[in-house]
Amino acid sequence: MAPRFILLVICSAAFVIAIIPLTSSSIGRGQHQNMQVLKPNLSDSGVGLSASSRYEGSSSFVHVRYHMGPVLSSPIVLYLIWYGKWNPKHQSTIRSFLLSISDESSHSPSVYSWWATTVALYTDQTNSNVTTSITIGREVSDAECSVSKSLTRLSMQQVIANSISFKHLPVNNRNGVYLILTAPDITVQDFCRAVCGFHFFTFPSIVGNTLPYAWVGNSGKQCPETCAYPFAVPAYMTGATKEMEPPNGDAGVDGMISVIGHELAELASNPLMNAWYAGDDPTAPTEIGDLCEGVYGTGGGGGYTGQVSSDEEGRRYNLIGKNGKKFLVQWIWSPVLKACSGPNATDRDN
Ligand SMILES: *[C@@H]1O[C@H](CO)[C@@H](O)[C@H](O)[C@H]1NC(C)=O
Ligand SMILES: *[C@@H]1O[C@H](CO)[C@@H](O)[C@H](O)[C@H]1NC(C)=O
Ligand SMILES: *[C@@H]1O[C@H](CO)[C@@H](O)[C@H](O)[C@H]1NC(C)=O
Repeated sequence: MAPRFILLVICSAAFVIAIIPLTSSSIGRGQHQNMQVLKPNLSDSGVGLSASSRYEGSSSFVHVRYHMGPVLSSPIVLYLIWYGKWNPKHQSTIRSFLLSISDESSHSPSVYSWWATTVALYTDQTNSNVTTSITIGREVSDAECSVSKSLTRLSMQQVIANSISFKHLPVNNRNGVYLILTAPDITVQDFCRAVCGFHFFTFPSIVGNTLPYAWVGNSGKQCPETCAYPFAVPAYMTGATKEMEPPNGDAGVDGMISVIGHELAELASNPLMNAWYAGDDPTAPTEIGDLCEGVYGTGGGGGYTGQVSSDEEGRRYNLIGKNGKKFLVQWIWSPVLKACSGPNATDRDN
C-alpha cells in the first residue's frame, strides 16, 4: 500500500482547484515508506515562517508571473452571503478567521503574519502591495436559498444579484469582495469532484457590475475527505494517514477555513485573472494557493501535511487568530522565496 495524495489542478474556466486523491496504482508504490520529512533551512525564511520547495519536485519548474493587472491594494471590505441554513457557532468561527487576517496583535504564529509574509508581498505595476487590511462590511443570510439548493458556477452570480436586490447588500466596486458560503446541504457544480471553492468576478449582465467574488462550500456532509482534508482522509489512505482533530471541533467548517484562506489569497493577488499566476493559459491559471495545496507545515508536500501543532486536547492547528482562536490553513506561494511559505510548527508532536 502506497497511498499518496496528489494535488491536481483542474480548471475549466479560470477557476480553482480541488484536492483530488488518486489511488496508489496511479502513482507507483513504495514511496510512502520512504518519504522524507524535509527540514528546510530556516535561516532563509525570516519572521517565524519557513519555506518548503517541495512543490512537484522543484521550485525551478514554477514560474508564477505577473500579467500587468491590478492586485487588491486598497483595504478590502468583505460582504458575506450565508447561503442555506447556517449554525451560528460555525458562522462565528469563520467570521473570527476573517477578522484575524488584519489582527496584528494575535499571538505568533498569527493569521496576520501568514497573510503579511506571503500574500501581501505581491505587488502590481504601480508598486502597490496587496493590502493587509480586511474588514467585514455587511453580512446577509439567504437561508431560504433564493436561487436553488443546487447552484452552478454561473448561478452563483445570481445569488449575489439577489442579495443586492432583496437584502440590500451594498454594491461596492471600489474595494468590495463578495464571499458566498454555502451550507452543508447545498450542492454546487463541480463541488467535491473538481473544486472546493473558486473565485472569479461578476458579469455586468447578471449583477450590474464587475465585482470580485469567491465561493467556498461546507463539505462536512458531501466530501470531507476531499475538501476538509486533513480532518478527514480518503478511505484508501486510512491506516497510512490518520485524520487530524479539527481545531474548532468541526471538520466541515475547519476545512472551509483553509479553502477560504486559499481563495482570498488568490483573489487578492489575481482579482481579474490578469495579475499573478503560473502557466500560459489565463483560462486555466495555477495561482498562489494552488501551488501549496495540502502543505500546512514544515516538510509538507507529496501527501504529507508537514509538521503542525497540537493543543492540549490534541486538536491540530498552525495559526493563531483573534482571542487566541486556532486555525489550520495551508501555506501560500511566496514571490520572494519562490517556494511555499507559512507558519512554522513545533516539534512537540513528532
Ligand atoms: C542556511 O542558509 C543560510 C543563508 O542562505 C546559509 O548561510 C547557511 O549556510 C545555510 N545552512 C545550511 C545548513 O544549509
Ligand atoms: C515559531 O515561531 C515563533 C515566533 O516567531 C518562535 O517563537 C518559535 O520558536 C518558532 N518555532 C520553531 C519550531 O521554529
Ligand atoms: C511589498 O512587496 C515587496 C515585494 O515583494 C516587498 O519587498 C515589500 O516588503 C512589501 N511591502 C510590504 C509593506 O509588505
